[in-house]
Amino acid sequence: MTAQLNPRGDVAVLVPAAGAGVRLGPGRPKALRLLGGEPLLVHAVRRLAAAPSVHTIVVAAPVAEVAAVRDLLAPVAPVIVVAGGAERQASVAAALAAVPAGPTIILVHDAARALTPPELVESVAAAVRDGRDAVIPVLPVVDTIKEVGAGEVVLGTVDRSALRAVQTPQGFRRAVLSAAHAAAGDSLTDDAGLVEKQGVTVSCVPGSEYAVKITRPFDLALAEHLLAAGG
Ligand code: CTP
Ligand code: MG
Repeated sequence: MTAQLNPRGDVAVLVPAAGAGVRLGPGRPKALRLLGGEPLLVHAVRRLAAAPSVHTIVVAAPVAEVAAVRDLLAPVAPVIVVAGGAERQASVAAALAAVPAGPTIILVHDAARALTPPELVESVAAAVRDGRDAVIPVLPVVDTIKEVGAGEVVLGTVDRSALRAVQTPQGFRRAVLSAAHAAAGDSLTDDAGLVEKQGVTVSCVPGSEYAVKITRPFDLALAEHLLAAGG
């Protein structure tokens, strides 16, 4: 079986899906928790596969669930499934190592952002194709942000206009992400952070409210509503 979607596509998407989902509460690994009766990972992969630029999807699954995830995704889309690592960064590195020759753009996308629309995948990929080395989808920060010190005492108010909340998929020229992972030291929660350390310019594109990361039970409840409303 080929693990290829659009053979003319220039994008490989890495899907770290090996986390436990501790903040979601007791249960199966988060990517396998149900949203509208289907695992989060199925929702995420279905939307990625619907993006026309996507050539390959590589999923990093929980070590004990690799075979189960292969079976789960077989009817959804042709994907490559590898074992993830103990940290998100290790899961991304494992997926990156499995990308075949061909794609020149690599996107990294959290399985936990299960309702991310294909249009966001395309807009991040297009910005890389247009010549950017690294691209992240962002939203403005809506809450007032305070810096606090010991004893929860407010030290000051941060200028919100210069802040952005960062989502996935994050997109990279393939060589840029490979070099950043080869040089990686400390574990970071986002891939753009790795390339920033290499001195690479990271550019922003508008994100999507539907790309919310399902982290806590409240987020899952919100996602249920978004899905029911057609998201
Ligand atoms: N992830 C991964 N490998 C890890 C840890 C996380 O592939 N060792 C993935 C998760 O599956 C998720 C994404 O990285 O799709 C973002 O991580 P997060 O939202 O923190 O998920 P979990 O680590 O599963 O959740 P928690 O931190 O609450 O345990
Ligand atoms: Mg985590």
